[in-house]
Amino acid sequence: MGNDPHSYTDLSQGRTTDLALDWTVDFEVRTLRGAAKLTLDAAREGPLDLDTRDLTIAAVEADDGSPLAFELGDRDPVMGQRLRIQRERPTATVTIRYETSPDASALLWLEPSQTDGGKQPFVLSQCQAIHARSMAPLQDSPQVRAPYTARVTIPQALSAVMSAAPGTEEPHAPEGQRTLAFAMPQPIPSYLLALAVGDIDSRDLGPRTRVYAEPGVVEAAAWEFAEVEQMLSAAEALFGPYPWERYDFIVLPPSFPMGGMENPRMTFLTPTLLAGDRSLVSVLAHELAHSWTGNLINNATNEDFWLNEGWTVYAERRILAAIYSPEVAEQQSCLARVALDETVEERKAAGQKTALNYRQNGLDPDEDFSKIPYEKGFLLVTALERAVGREAFDGFIEKYLARFRFQSLTTADFAKFVAAELPEAAQKVDLDTWLYGEGIPADAPTFHSDRLAELDALAKDWTPAKTPPADDWSTTETLYFVSQLEPQDAAATEALGEWLGLRQTGNGELQCVWLTRASEAGVPGIEPELRAFIGKVGRTKLLKPVIAAMAKRKELRPLAAELIEANRPRWHGSTRGALDAAMA
Ligand code: BES
Ligand code: ZN
Repeated sequence: MGNDPHSYTDLSQGRTTDLALDWTVDFEVRTLRGAAKLTLDAAREGPLDLDTRDLTIAAVEADDGSPLAFELGDRDPVMGQRLRIQRERPTATVTIRYETSPDASALLWLEPSQTDGGKQPFVLSQCQAIHARSMAPLQDSPQVRAPYTARVTIPQALSAVMSAAPGTEEPHAPEGQRTLAFAMPQPIPSYLLALAVGDIDSRDLGPRTRVYAEPGVVEAAAWEFAEVEQMLSAAEALFGPYPWERYDFIVLPPSFPMGGMENPRMTFLTPTLLAGDRSLVSVLAHELAHSWTGNLINNATNEDFWLNEGWTVYAERRILAAIYSPEVAEQQSCLARVALDETVEERKAAGQKTALNYRQNGLDPDEDFSKIPYEKGFLLVTALERAVGREAFDGFIEKYLARFRFQSLTTADFAKFVAAELPEAAQKVDLDTWLYGEGIPADAPTFHSDRLAELDALAKDWTPAKTPPADDWSTTETLYFVSQLEPQDAAATEALGEWLGLRQTGNGELQCVWLTRASEAGVPGIEPELRAFIGKVGRTKLLKPVIAAMAKRKELRPLAAELIEANRPRWHGSTRGALDAAMA
């Protein structure tokens, strides 16, 4: 046992220093079939424990190709199954021949009808926090970082991307198939392993940025995210040279469960960001920022997840301030604080922790996921910045990134580093309370926007008769206004939707807010809109509030149950779990 509550990894048995994957992607039976070769830091004998979930292991081989005995442990609902390999002789590598299950928790296998093009199947992965083990047997703990290579054999008509440099075609592929070779030369934690295969096209956006998407989506995606080069330059000015060579990203079919995922060299994005007006691109800034905060320095275990996300929300808002204006970042911080306070209340009521760091033994990271590590983490980083001033803090960021580059970090080691390198901040900011205490400290940083204060005032005594022109409101302004508005009756909610254009919009965040409020208020006739939205979206964050609101209305609850059942096959396991919980 190690000190990662979510992994069977035992570092005294050795540490993975290289991973070589060889997969055939079989859409007929929905499996990856092939081998994983792990190289360890030294040739050792004795047991080697790896993480797996729903893998079928055919054989395990040592350096010299000779077979090794192995045994799969009992299945744990959170952790999966331990694979114990017996190294009877010293061996520096183990090669595991295996295949994945059609139910692999990392993978979403989509029918052609679930894609934009409708002609080809698609498969995509989402490994964070502990799903990589359903794609390959691994030391699936973020304390272990290793470079990887992958040979991926796919149907001739399709293409593939990975969290790696663009694939190169191998000369000898089986009939009707093609084999692409990928390499991620820098060491990464296993949760950053990523694969997508489908009818994928691409457009260059700059010398080192490219957007990938299905052919019917790629133009819209290229337009929506055309600012990526500016974001990259702004991020480099703040955090130093981009450390991963290329920054490419893919806009996936709607089943992708997250807004974005920072897979290195290939960010994964939801198509719900394609609002047509670039109003949701902060998610791209966020995933790009992870290239420094997260992918360069990553959480040692999921208990330190706030180090990834709190720092990245901070970095994201610095980028937005630089490319747009400080006001844009300030508004996002105001809006986020409203959501954070709601989350704290909800979690308290549910008996869940609101600290940044706490024991997670037995907890499923998907079930425990919340805004706390993001927004409380952001407040802590901001408190440290304000304690010493921006200039000194920028100096600290530089040292922090240099000191822990390509390493994983614990919360305790972070606190030590702050005490040593930023003693003034450590004195002014009560780190123990921030890290280990519940709730939000009373002296947490605050944010102000005159514009949002105006909207506050308007929300206080809003009626359907008080509707000043709102067509030039930004998405953030609209979301903030609605967040400040008391629940309204059905007629007033309908008027609200009309006034703010919530019913016509292609903006997923606004659609979510509309359908949530309309369900809560019992606006008549919204069933077709609910069907269309839930039948298309796969992003948990947008589905969950709508389902929760429907679940609370007697007349909509059966429809919620029906739509969850009908759409379940399109959704990632983490999404299914979150929606089942929202119904409970
Ligand atoms: N790394 C996260 C996504 C994630 C977290 C996946 C935990 C699985 C487990 C990613 O960087 C993220 O935070 N995405 C956010 C967007 C962001 C702007 C807050 C999302 O998907 O909503
Ligand atoms: Zn993130």
